[in-house]
Order: sequence, then C-alpha cells, then structure tokens
Amino acid sequence: MCGIVGYIGKQRALPILLDGIKALEYRGYDSAGLAIVDSLPAGRQGTEVYAEKAVGRVSNLEEKARNAETQGALGIVHSRWATHGGVTELNAHPHTDCKGDIWLVHNGIIENYKEIKSRLAAKGHLFASETDTEVLVHLIEDKLNTAHGGAAVLEDGVREALNEVRGTYGIAVIDRREPKKLVAARNFSPLLIGVGNGEYFVASDASPVIRHTRDVVYLNDGEMAVLMPDRYRIMTLDQKDVVRKAHVIEWSVEEAQKGGHPHFMLKEIMEQPEAIQNSLRGRLLVSEGNAKLGGLAEVAERLRGVKRLLIAACGTAHLAGRVGEYMLEEYAGIPVEVDIASEFRYRKPVFREGDALLVISQSGETADTLAALREAKQKGVMTLGIVNAVGSTIARETDAGIYQHIGPEIGVASTKAFTSQVSILVLLTLFLGRQRELSVVMGKRIAEELQAIPALIGEVLATRDAIRAVADKYRERNNFLYLGRKYNYPVAMEGALKIKEISYVHAEGCSAGEMKHGPIAMIDDSFPSIVIAPKDSVYEKNVSNIQEVKARGGPVIAVATRGDSEIAELADDVLTIPKTLEMLTPILAAIPLQLFAYEFGVARGLDVDKPRNLAKSVTVE
Ligand code: M6R
Repeated sequence: MCGIVGYIGKQRALPILLDGIKALEYRGYDSAGLAIVDSLPAGRQGTEVYAEKAVGRVSNLEEKARNAETQGALGIVHSRWATHGGVTELNAHPHTDCKGDIWLVHNGIIENYKEIKSRLAAKGHLFASETDTEVLVHLIEDKLNTAHGGAAVLEDGVREALNEVRGTYGIAVIDRREPKKLVAARNFSPLLIGVGNGEYFVASDASPVIRHTRDVVYLNDGEMAVLMPDRYRIMTLDQKDVVRKAHVIEWSVEEAQKGGHPHFMLKEIMEQPEAIQNSLRGRLLVSEGNAKLGGLAEVAERLRGVKRLLIAACGTAHLAGRVGEYMLEEYAGIPVEVDIASEFRYRKPVFREGDALLVISQSGETADTLAALREAKQKGVMTLGIVNAVGSTIARETDAGIYQHIGPEIGVASTKAFTSQVSILVLLTLFLGRQRELSVVMGKRIAEELQAIPALIGEVLATRDAIRAVADKYRERNNFLYLGRKYNYPVAMEGALKIKEISYVHAEGCSAGEMKHGPIAMIDDSFPSIVIAPKDSVYEKNVSNIQEVKARGGPVIAVATRGDSEIAELADDVLTIPKTLEMLTPILAAIPLQLFAYEFGVARGLDVDKPRNLAKSVTVE
C-alpha cells in the first residue's frame, strides 16, 4: 500500500526522489518522508543525513524539502498508508536507529514486532514511533552491533534481521556509514530495481523509474538486493546469488500521465475504446468463432480436462469475475464458482480433480488474491491469471495467463481494468467454449459483437454531458440503490462500489430480484435507484422492478438501450447504451456508471483520484 523509491548514483537524489514518490502517491498518501546521505560540508570528513517528513500529501513534503541544500546521491523516500500507528510525522517513514545512522522505508506489516520491540527495549533501544517498521531498523542496528563481532556490513545486518521477522515487507535501507550502498529486500510486498547507467533505483512499481530507465529487475519473495553506484547484486536471504535478466518496460511516461484530463480516473474512463482494443488485439479469431490466447498455449491441452473453474479476486476484479461466471457457464458450459479472494484463502476451499483457479488482478500484487493463488498452487491446482501489470507477482506465479495490455491504471477507482477484464473473460469463454460445446456459429457471433465493442464504448462516452447533468441533479443525495439482474447484477455492485469509493455516499448494489426481500423497505422519495435495464432476456422483470420503485415514490435513473421509449416514459432519467449481445452489456453498462460516479464526485468537490482511506493496490491483508 505504501510507496517506496530509492536512488543511488551520480545525480542529486532529492529531485529524483520527490519526482519518483509523486508518481507513486496513489499507493499511499497520508504522510511522506525521505532521507538522503550527504558528505559533510567542505573541510570536514564524513557524512550526514538530511531527513524530512510531512503529514498529508507528498506536496507537503516537497514544500518542506524544496530548498534543502543536500547534494547527496543516495537516498530513500516513502509515501505512507497507515497500518500501525496514527498519521503523524513521528510515524511517517523513514525510520531510523538509536544513533540516526541507519534509515529504512517499509511497505508491509511486521507481525512479530511487539515481541521484538520489548526485547530490544530491554537492551536499551529507544523507539520514537508506534510503528512496526521502526522495530526493524533497530533490529538491523542490533544485528550490526553484534554480528561478526560488530564488523558486519549493512547487508549482513539486514539479512540477519529479516531472518528473524515474520510478516510482509518491501524495504529500502541506507546507512550513513556506508554512503555507497543501498540495500533492498522483499517478502510479499512488490519491489523492483531500475537499472540505469551508473545509477540504480528501487521502487514499488515501475512508474517512478521509467523516466530514467526502462530496464527493471523484479525482486522475488525472500530476495535481497545490494545496490552500489557501479553494480548490483541480488541474493536470497539464505545467501544464494540470483542472476535475473532485466525486463524492458514498454509503456511510456506520457501513458502514466493524465493526457490532458483533469483526473486520471477520467482519462482512464475515456481511453477505454483503445484499452479494450489493446486487450483484444491479435486475439480474436472471428471466422473460427474462437480466441487465440498465447499465454494459455502451454496449458491448452490441460484446459480441455478442466471440469470446474474457480475464480478468486478482490473489489472490481472480483465483480468482473462474477460477470465471467455467467458467460462461462452459459457459453463454455463449465461450472464456475467465484469467491472474494480474502474469503477463499481462509475458508478451506475443497478442491476436486479437474479444478483450475483463475485469479484476476489489475495490479497483480493484491495480497489476498496472491494468497488465494498460492493456496491453490500448494494443493496442486492449475492456476491461471488475468493481470494487467506485466511482471507482477501474480503474473509470475500463475501457471499461465492473459495480460490485459491496457497501460497503467493510476486512478484508485478501477475503470478500464474492469471493462478489459470482462472483455478478456469473453475471449476465455470463446477459447474454453470452442474446446467444448460452443458452436462455431455462436462463437462467431460473439466474436463479431466483441470486435464491435470498442466503437460502442466510444458512443457511450459521447453521452458524457448528459450523464454529467444527471449527476449534477442528484449531487445532494446521500443514498443510492443500484439494481441489476443476471449479467448486470455484478454491474450494479460495481456501480455502487464506484460511487462509494469516489464520493463516500451510501450505495448498495443489489440483485433486482432480491429487492422485494428487503432493500425495497428503504425506498422513498429521497432514495434514488439506479436500474440497469438493457433490452435483454430479463428486461420485462427489470421494468416491473422500476414500476415497483416508482410506486413507492422512489426516483429512478435507468441505464437502458438507446431508443427504449417504454423505459424513457417510466424512469426519471435515462442513461443510454447501444444494443449489443446480452453477455456484452456489462462492458457498456459499466461506463455510464463510471462516469456518473466521476461527475458526482467532482460535483461534490472531492479528489476523485485519491479517495480518502483507499490505496490503489492493497498489498496488505
Ligand atoms: O489490483 P487488483 O485488481 O487486484 O485490485 C483489486 C481491488 O483492490 C480493486 O479493484 C479495488 O476494489 C478498486 N479500488 C475498485 O475501484
């Protein structure tokens, strides 16, 4: 959840660190801090550390550090998303040891920190914060004092300390006494090394690094890296050297920026035609009614034998999986069970022969999804992934997978990732369906309609002004009920999730069929319902639900097929989508709901890219 950047090289570290952490601010933004090792002023031998911290956004840190004179070329910076200890400067990272020599930033949770803290406190260590992280830097200090009779180097202390802690971490550590070294390590929290020319970077993801180098090396769990200005070394915590080729990042700096839009969320909504095109590129075999999925080629024969598909994911990715359940069962004829990953990992799922697990994750780093994947792997179940972030942990650990190819998603509210995941699930349905009962005729029909989807998304986006007007009309409302059936029941939940995240209002996503079993009690003239009612196999039922809401005085905003006069007469407001195949309506119906949530949040003056309490990638439980 927190963001880490580290730098060692020839350049002045301060601007690189500040720029880098701005690119990562979406990971955590309740406080930020940095530490830079510098030489002592002329005439004096030795080094000193410039450290600064600020509560709030990275801009607050920038404000404080802007005029600092430090010229140091070694430093670390961190943006925090609090887990242990309140949002204060004292709890902000970096944390340091008793003498202010060692400085450390951390993403993750040290589970056994209390027991280590009391042991170290008994030995005289003084703690300044309430965090689990501070314990780790004192433990490193302790190890350096005792290991090898006190003659240990930083990586020895880090390694010995990490071998004693339980929990998750991505860390970057520097020591004033070793000004030509940066040590990084990872266990369950993402970390990569940017390989430059005479300089190295450490970061939680590639966005701060790509402005300097496109060559990155991902660290695996249980690995540590020692970076020096002219070389680096990766090794396991049990001291085995690791040789790993650098991965070349394809996306551009511009792609990671807002592209002229006021918010990343809007940019990512508006670029969906292109994003989906990229997800589909080269994969649709229209004349065969099939999909070509290179990432599944190696397991294609094994997939023929799959008798049940389990899907585990979190948040929006989970809801994409729920849409997938309908299409995979209807067209591929495979029984599907979808779970929230955090439930899956703890409820002891019963695996059967012929099971495969599909995990879906934009970031590829979500802790619960990763744990679900590892649980299945441990039980010998074949694992597949739908992932956006290339080289992420989930992408690396699944047996096979399909990349989304939609470029970075920066807005905390997931938008293009959802429509892309659903589109890829259609491809998967074609692929698995054609291995089974799906006819070439039906496959062809699905493929043709899917091919047309990017253009139809463009048509929905063109209605943005009308959606903004509706959002404006309802901007004072604090409760919304989202209703949908069949393929669009998960879309109702996704619409509710979007407005909750962005605008902090109460919203419930409900199966329209369930409405009479409870939620209808909430309806009155102050409680609007948003009903997703395209012309599909459950259209008549949805119309009845709209009538029931209206009969109780509830305002209705309908998402309906363009030209539907019946709904236009019934509903107070209509957001339209073009006609498509029923199984593809979630891709189109999600878009007015994304725009509605966006415009609603903007109308209420909220920071839609950085909603309170949320982080883009949930890398802790
Ligand atoms: O990176 P992932 O797709 O694994 O993330 C899963 C959820 O954390 C994510 O979809 C979250 O629910 C979004 N903020 C929703 O907009």
